[in-house]
Amino acid sequence: MSQHYQHDVLVIGSGAAGLTLALTLPEHLRIAVLSKGNLANGSTYWAQGGVAAVLDDMDTVESHVDDTLNAGAGLCREDAVRFTVEHSREAIQWLIDQGVPFTRDDQTAREDGGFEFHLTREGGHSHRRIIHAADATGAAIFKTLLEQAKLRANIEMLEQRVAVDLITTRKLDLAGERCLGAYVLNRASGEVDTYGARFVILATGGAAKVYLYTSNPDGACGDGIAMAWRAGCRVGNLEFNQFHPTCLYHPQAKSFLVTEALRGEGALLKLPNGQRFMQRFDARAELAPRDIVARAIDHEMKRLGVDCVYLDISHKPADFIKMHFPTVYERCLDFGIDITREPIPVVPAAHYTCGGVVVDQSGHTDVPGLYAIGETSFTGLHGANRMASNSLLECFVYARSAAADIMQKLDEVSAPSNLPTWDASQVTDSDEDVIIAHNWDELRRFMWDYVGIVRTNKRLQRAEHRVRLLLDEIDEFYSNYKVSRDLIELRNLAQVAELMIRSAMQRKESRGLHYTLDYPQQLPEAKDTILQPPTYGD
Ligand code: FUM
Repeated sequence: MSQHYQHDVLVIGSGAAGLTLALTLPEHLRIAVLSKGNLANGSTYWAQGGVAAVLDDMDTVESHVDDTLNAGAGLCREDAVRFTVEHSREAIQWLIDQGVPFTRDDQTAREDGGFEFHLTREGGHSHRRIIHAADATGAAIFKTLLEQAKLRANIEMLEQRVAVDLITTRKLDLAGERCLGAYVLNRASGEVDTYGARFVILATGGAAKVYLYTSNPDGACGDGIAMAWRAGCRVGNLEFNQFHPTCLYHPQAKSFLVTEALRGEGALLKLPNGQRFMQRFDARAELAPRDIVARAIDHEMKRLGVDCVYLDISHKPADFIKMHFPTVYERCLDFGIDITREPIPVVPAAHYTCGGVVVDQSGHTDVPGLYAIGETSFTGLHGANRMASNSLLECFVYARSAAADIMQKLDEVSAPSNLPTWDASQVTDSDEDVIIAHNWDELRRFMWDYVGIVRTNKRLQRAEHRVRLLLDEIDEFYSNYKVSRDLIELRNLAQVAELMIRSAMQRKESRGLHYTLDYPQQLPEAKDTILQPPTYGD
């Protein structure tokens, strides 16, 4: 039988953003943090590089702001950039206070006998400003925050809970405008439970799984973006999908990321004949922003008809490589590649969703009571191209600011009551799951082929046509059959794909990550692409 639960705060997503928010809220609040798989299955766990922040005495807020604006190709919202960067030091201090074991720099002993933290460099940054835990920063942060959350009696961590849809006053035809909770599939019982909450947070990550090749774990299906859209929230800049330039190219490696910090520490990109090529595309060569590097690799692969290019750090001492990049070293060795002696075969793969649910500086969406934080959101920080390691920073800064906003509003908001139970009376068990599997494949393949690194009007039109057919088929399936994780994710992914295609069709220029052969120039005026759902403002 389906269950009803009541919390003060419902956090959908258990990564860096969701955990930070839960830990920042006071202990008298009852908080549920939902994970649709196991807790560690989100993107945070896999983040290698680190967190960008102004920590070095020689670095400045202005410099970090300028680098972010430059990488964003004129489309960042400067107030969001400044807000994020100005709060970077305190966000890092909070993480250190939680116990995150960031890598220390034994070259820079302090007067008190301690060590400063080691700061590495990544593309687009003019200073060393990436604080990290070797090359497994996300795992170190996630484990630390999870340990802290488990110590808190007021935080319930719930696994195998897949949010199906948000519950809003509008959907229930009630007066006022507010998010009241969510319907959530419990994968163990197979039932859809009702979660009422005074505040609901979407911290579900991005939608890179919309592409055939991605560095992301399987869950990156744009769930929060699709749910927010259906609940009446605007979305912004969804045409900007970041492709990470260097994912391991190996038939058995499921798009394993080779961190950009390798290039920060001197790794070189080479063609199969051993020649470097990045200097032909940008004066910053290997340390140009990601859109430029990924496009250059794509161009060279197509020009030469080769399957991959190579990333070479073998000129550095083996000890240095093993100490700084133990994860990459071990993983490559698993596939027979010794990175201390030979170059790594790499290709670009979908990595980060720069657009998302439109939010204000507190992470608040268009629907009162509903917040979106981290990759799910569109804050204006990333513009047309996210600068490396700004994303984890955004998670911490906006999660903390959303928590502050919730605390301010606590007294105004009471718990929702009498929420209706999920109606499963009209649906049956599916006997045609092949449709779901087929549609998954079809969607991810045409998004890769038609809405990838290089686009054209024709490719986008083809993608639009196909996504409409898929959406109709998925809707019909959703109305007739019981929900499953695969169906919920496919429905969300297809919805977000449609929004991405629509956004890409609206942009009649090439800017940052959106490159189209039909409009190769950048327009003089930079404008966001904001889409409004049909229900918004009715
Ligand atoms: O290359 C990396 O380690 C990725 C960093 C990022 O996406 O910010």
